[in-house]
Amino acid sequence: MPLSLHAWLFAILLAAGAAPAATHDARQLVPLPDPMQRHMLANMRDHLSALNDIIHHLAQGRLDEAADTAENRLGMSSLPRHGARHMAAHMPEGMRRIGTRMHHAASRFARMAQEGDRDAAYRALADITAACVACHGAYRVR
Ligand code: HEC
Repeated sequence: MPLSLHAWLFAILLAAGAAPAATHDARQLVPLPDPMQRHMLANMRDHLSALNDIIHHLAQGRLDEAADTAENRLGMSSLPRHGARHMAAHMPEGMRRIGTRMHHAASRFARMAQEGDRDAAYRALADITAACVACHGAYRVR
């Protein structure tokens, strides 16, 4: 058999599904009208940027600024700004629940940071990122 070791490895990798993840995407597709999809992805980029700002504020010991950023850009106060009610109407129930969990966690973070309770603030921060991860693992829009 002239088959090289490389060829065997390649065949085994293919069989094992080591092809790019895109061919094996178990996330649920949530179809959104185009403008809404753009709006949502812009919100998402702001979520990441807000998270970055929060962590920077924390690292500098600026708990009040961290609290303000979390409340106004991720927390319950951010909902009108994100057009959340309109958006939520297009989401499956499970996705909506994770979104609500994230907004609540952000507001909880803001309260804890305002009170100067760093440990509780970090726990709430971990709840925020857990919601990002949970939703991204379960849903896609394109
Ligand atoms: C309720 C669901 C949900 C939550 C919560 C959520 N996301 Fe997303 N996010 C999505 C979906 C769905 C996409 C699109 C993924 C796709 O279609 O491949 C996305 C995309 C993104 C993108 C890519 C934007 C682009 O322009 O392509 C970023 C960045 C992002 N999210 C950051 C975050 C961060 C940071 C958090 C938490 C603070 C977060 N998201 C919370 C659902 C969510």
